[in-house]
Amino acid sequence: MKVYDLILKKRNGFALSEVEIEQLITGYAAGIIPDYQMAALAMAIYFQGMTREETLQLTRAMMNSGDIICLDQIPGIKVDKHSTGGVGDTTTLVLAPLVAAAGIPVAKLSGRGLGHTGGTLDKLESIPGLQTGMTVSELVAAVKKVGVAIAGQSGNLVPADKKFYALRDLTATVDSMPLIASSIMCKKLAAGADALVLDVKVGSGAFIRDQDQAFELARAMVDIGRRAGRKTAAIVSHMDQPLGRAVGNALEIEEAVLTLRGKGPPDLEELCLVLGGWMIYLAGKAADPEQGKADLKKVIESGAALGKFKELVRNQHGNEMIIDNLSLLLRAEKQIGIKASAEGYVSRVNGEIIGAAAMDLGAGREEKDSPIDPAVGITLEKKVGASIRPGENLAVIHSHADAPLELIESTEKKVVSAYRLQKEPLNKSPLVYGWVDQKGDEYLV
Ligand code: URA
Ligand code: CA
Repeated sequence: MKVYDLILKKRNGFALSEVEIEQLITGYAAGIIPDYQMAALAMAIYFQGMTREETLQLTRAMMNSGDIICLDQIPGIKVDKHSTGGVGDTTTLVLAPLVAAAGIPVAKLSGRGLGHTGGTLDKLESIPGLQTGMTVSELVAAVKKVGVAIAGQSGNLVPADKKFYALRDLTATVDSMPLIASSIMCKKLAAGADALVLDVKVGSGAFIRDQDQAFELARAMVDIGRRAGRKTAAIVSHMDQPLGRAVGNALEIEEAVLTLRGKGPPDLEELCLVLGGWMIYLAGKAADPEQGKADLKKVIESGAALGKFKELVRNQHGNEMIIDNLSLLLRAEKQIGIKASAEGYVSRVNGEIIGAAAMDLGAGREEKDSPIDPAVGITLEKKVGASIRPGENLAVIHSHADAPLELIESTEKKVVSAYRLQKEPLNKSPLVYGWVDQKGDEYLV
């Protein structure tokens, strides 16, 4: 096989075979195929696309490039979830204990964040004492004992994807549907769950900006899951603002606890119930996703979901008292309200800008190893659709008493610029646009 010929073949619009794709990925991961050839291949794929079969083979090859986690020792159907991103997305922290409380084992591998706020691990670690470092056998043991664990990735998952994704990032080839679908799915397949619920976000705050593209990505990923023998469904959800109210690490723990108490922000609760309902359904514990959703509401009302989160925190050596007493969470000393100067209705809250503002305060990291400040962040007092009058708070900045004045001023400016107001009341867009079910059938709400 000559790499040149394979690039040419793809460039000219032909499909690559299973063997060809595997050789390309193993050769690249091993450092035998140079970046410039892989970059040309990525660009050829960007323009020519890939068939469903090629996309599956690419996913497989990347999955097989590193460790594959086996969760077979945990009895029951393990369901994982994945979201295509979002600022202040607290869903994992709510969903993992919620779904576990309904009897579905959840072995969640999560990451740390780069940019806006921390990842799920950083948020969890804002609970004093809580540990997320686990080997795979410790993860399995934790899930067998408690029903749920959230851990950092140990081992070496999908090294080929890591290398290829970094290359795509530098060569304007990230936004290719087959490349995104295979990149997300190889990680999920390697993480070992039996079934998978995907949350594909579309809108001004997401990296996919139109509905057709979102459904295309949803179909591509469901197809990979199905062919790989994992029940997979994808929800297409709308994002024109951060989910919930809190953007920050300890602030999002508080938000997750409130949601598990049944007192969280409505959009976060709704999305968690929808995704969780699908998880229960795919695990075979509900007749349909609606039933799953109704069951989960009861799991919240009974206190079982909150109790499960407490068990998780205890089992991972965190201070479980925070669950009943949120004032034990780390807090920034200063709360600064950001007031509206005009009257109107909020039509948009730009998540990227809010995320950047939270990062400036220290809630996120600019570089891979920089430290995170668990206490700081931003809470949104007004969300899309809300009416506002001059002098009312749009949002609140949570910062330390010794934060420099320039930092506070520039954060205020950023937050104000994230808000769009309009004169007339507006019809809010629905949170869920539709879904692609495990058979690949598409539904619009
Ligand atoms: N997220 C991923 O993991 N991969 C992509 O290609 C895009 C988003
Ligand atoms: Ca949030």
